[in-house]
Amino acid sequence: MTLQDKITAAAEYLLGRISLRPTIALVLGSGLGDYADTLEDAVKIPYSEIPNFPRPTVEGHAGAFVFGKKAGKPVVVAQGRVHYYEGLPMQEITLPVRVLAAMGVQALVLTNAAGGVNFSYKPGTLMLICDHINFSGANPLIGPNLEKFGPRFPDVSDLYTASIREKIKTKAAQANIPLAEGVYLMCSGPNYETPAEIRAFRTLGADAVGMSTVPEALVAAHSGLAVVGVSCITNMAAGVLPVKLNHAEVVETAARVHDEFQRLVDVILQVL
Ligand code: HPA
Repeated sequence: MTLQDKITAAAEYLLGRISLRPTIALVLGSGLGDYADTLEDAVKIPYSEIPNFPRPTVEGHAGAFVFGKKAGKPVVVAQGRVHYYEGLPMQEITLPVRVLAAMGVQALVLTNAAGGVNFSYKPGTLMLICDHINFSGANPLIGPNLEKFGPRFPDVSDLYTASIREKIKTKAAQANIPLAEGVYLMCSGPNYETPAEIRAFRTLGADAVGMSTVPEALVAAHSGLAVVGVSCITNMAAGVLPVKLNHAEVVETAARVHDEFQRLVDVILQVL
């Protein structure tokens, strides 16, 4: 079965199971998984029921789409992101985004936990992604081009659409939500970076570093979706402070800023 056939089969299955036609999709990283609980008239469909879907291995739950309404808008939340470091090729981990595009979704909101590379950031800083550096060593668009979605050589010079970011920044300021803006660099993980890597990434122009988001953003851009990305700086990156990095700090900081992060996502949905 070709990748295109897998996508079409999954999209047709979902369109047959739900009547809601979401225009906005959200892939929410560490700490915001419960955002789906805030949807009205929610319908949850586990990935295990959808043909050809990848299964997340690290999150402790199997992954699901939750379809519903948020402030009157039809949306879908993807719970349980699959990361590249879990071992599947990028073409497979981004399949849910392709399926959402095939279902008619027009905008994708991506959030993640990230390490702060920019010295002015602090744990808890929320950063609107204005651009990215793909340092993962892989690309989900490698392989036969999916002509139904987009061109062989897509332009990504305005991937995180500037005009949308301007509106988000204005509304976030009105809502008293402090919001930085910067460049996200993706590493494959699963190890945190070395201090030498972080120094190099700062020289390259990175403000934050993490292990997700870039594959989904590239596939969404190729499919013509508007993309909005937000990083929650959960810790300063390796070597910035004389402390060791650990997943517990990431989870702790994400939990601390949870409410503000959730309000920011609400603001983003108003703009889209
Ligand atoms: N590096 C990479 N990924 C991360 C980090 C980090 O410091 N913090 C949270 N996700």
